[in-house]
Amino acid sequence: MSMRLPVSNPDNKLPNIAIDGPAGAGKTTIARMVARQLGFCHIDSGAMYRAVTLLALERSGESAVADEGTAYLIARDLDIDFLTGTEGDLRVMVQGDDRTEQLRSNRVDRYVSVVASMGDVRKELVAKQKELAEDGGVVMDGRDIGTHVLRGAEVKIFLTAAPSVRVYRRLRQQRQKGVHLSWDEAEDTVVQRDRIDSTRRISPLKVAVDAVTIDSTHLMRRDVVSQIEFILASVIRCPNGG
Ligand code: DC
Repeated sequence: MSMRLPVSNPDNKLPNIAIDGPAGAGKTTIARMVARQLGFCHIDSGAMYRAVTLLALERSGESAVADEGTAYLIARDLDIDFLTGTEGDLRVMVQGDDRTEQLRSNRVDRYVSVVASMGDVRKELVAKQKELAEDGGVVMDGRDIGTHVLRGAEVKIFLTAAPSVRVYRRLRQQRQKGVHLSWDEAEDTVVQRDRIDSTRRISPLKVAVDAVTIDSTHLMRRDVVSQIEFILASVIRCPNGG
């Protein structure tokens, strides 16, 4: 199914779509597909926390990655851009360099939840996220987009999947990059990140009251995308009220 949606609202702004959910639910892939389908801009907010973690690791090493002062300064000065690669894939530019692959490394995976639980880092990155979405037409995926960053988003999706499927997707994703994890290793990173992300004090992962939950355990990606487009169509009014 392909569609361009007639949009009508008082500010003449395109709607925003928030997609939240646990690790390995497929948020970034789905957000990317929805954005391409609609001609919207895709903002992967997790990549912003990953970028701060990567730069903190490079600057201070694993022993000092939890230093809040350093992480805050990195977040404050973060220069991040989301571009489309030649294959239609998402390329993430950090301080002017394409760091897409490094952002998804195991080392970043291990520490990113710790960095993402720092209040000052979140404040800086949330401000940037809000700014990026202020003109509408954005699909943003993360953990607190519907509950905090874009509370007014026209469409809010909570995308989830059974834990074993999420671990399997994580294994497959790493294997495609030539990294071979055991099931236990993949399970550890997914479970541990879920625990930290949903129990942290500031903006923990939770379902927004006005979000629609989609369980993708038994769904093809294109079916998830169709469901989101359907939900969007149901909240958009045509100029003639139709
Ligand atoms: O979506 P992801 O796996 O790339 O996210 C990386 C980490 O960043 C994840 O552990 C949770 C955190 N995160 C967050 O706290 N808030 C967001 N809006 C996005 C990601």
